[in-house]
Amino acid sequence: MTTTAITVHQTARPDGFPTPDLFRLVESPVPAPEPGTALVENLFLSVDPYHRELMDEDGGWALDAPLEGRTLARVVASRDPQLREGDLVFHRHGWRTHALVTLGEHGTRKITSYPGVPLHAHLGILGGTGLTAYVALTRFLELTELDDLFISAAAGGVGSAAARIARLLGVRRLVGSAGTPVKVRHLTEHLGFDAAFNYHDGPLPDLLAKAAPDGISTYLDNVGGDHLEAAIGALRDHGRIAWVGAIAQYHSAATPPPAPRNLFDIVGKSLRLEGVRVRDFTPVQQELEDLLVPHLRSGTVTSDATIVRGIEHTVGAFLGMLRGENLGKMLVALEPAG
Ligand SMILES: NC(=O)c1ccc[n+]([C@@H]2O[C@H](COP(=O)([O-])OP(=O)(O)OC[C@H]3O[C@@H](n4cnc5c(N)ncnc54)[C@H](OP(=O)(O)O)[C@@H]3O)[C@@H](O)[C@H]2O)c1
Repeated sequence: MTTTAITVHQTARPDGFPTPDLFRLVESPVPAPEPGTALVENLFLSVDPYHRELMDEDGGWALDAPLEGRTLARVVASRDPQLREGDLVFHRHGWRTHALVTLGEHGTRKITSYPGVPLHAHLGILGGTGLTAYVALTRFLELTELDDLFISAAAGGVGSAAARIARLLGVRRLVGSAGTPVKVRHLTEHLGFDAAFNYHDGPLPDLLAKAAPDGISTYLDNVGGDHLEAAIGALRDHGRIAWVGAIAQYHSAATPPPAPRNLFDIVGKSLRLEGVRVRDFTPVQQELEDLLVPHLRSGTVTSDATIVRGIEHTVGAFLGMLRGENLGKMLVALEPAG
């Protein structure tokens, strides 16, 4: 086993879209576990939109220090009788090759691996990404087979998972937006969308009206800004919005875009707009696994992911995800995928 651990540090704060020079790789000896802890080798790292917010002064990541991030790891040495060599764990000591973990701290928990299900699914459709999509659809939008659903950033992690889960739960019409022609084709050819559009191709209200001529009843918002305004415009009376993210504004925290100009239509149409926070729904995890694991095993559902290999490509994967280079969840693999 290697004796050198590699950790990604952030070294300066961004001004606008972040650049690779704001990070560096730091080498250190692989630590030995202390009583009550285990040494893990990280297998998959998650790079997420919320990391962009953590980069800011008031964001949460300290400079020149290890970074938080959702991670799937394997125990390689343990001084905790509940963790044995070879056990798989989820933890949040991300963006590094090795970590010392303690069960119950920083979300550290054992993971049940399912034969026939790729390990990376635990950071994708079976992880926080899938859970976000699932609770948005079931607890907020209360999706039924009569609903016409619009999903923004539809080819990304939450978007792809939401499409797969919506098709399982039943939905009448599925409409999605994404940022490239390749992604738009992917939505209709592989993810079960009835209609999709590239949001760069014109005014959003026009694009959405063309894709959803009868309007929509539900909207899962990953983007905010003008996507949210267009969706409010397209929603029919008593429509529902699950607001999951606002990736259109994460680089301009100091000068956020104005609120949707048609906000008062929420009253006129009696719409419901609610914010989704996945961390409030950890008890729903088993329900998600019960629903999805049989489908993942049989292949009727896949955990869509773009997987970049090597700790040295973590920052590139993160910046690539912010630029939209991912189909499905963007992940970094630190050894051949299981
Ligand atoms: N509330 C919660 O608890 C929770 C939990 C997880 C995630 N989220 C949020 O859910 C959203 C999706 O997260 P994810 O992890 O699945 O990321 P993702 O969708 O896999 O990746 C981000 C995607 O956003 C799109 N994008 C980037 N800039 C954009 C812009 N200006 N306008 C429109 N689209 C843009 C890009 O795709 P294109 O090529 O299509 O532009 C990119 O692939 C994010 O807003 C995230 O913060 C919230």
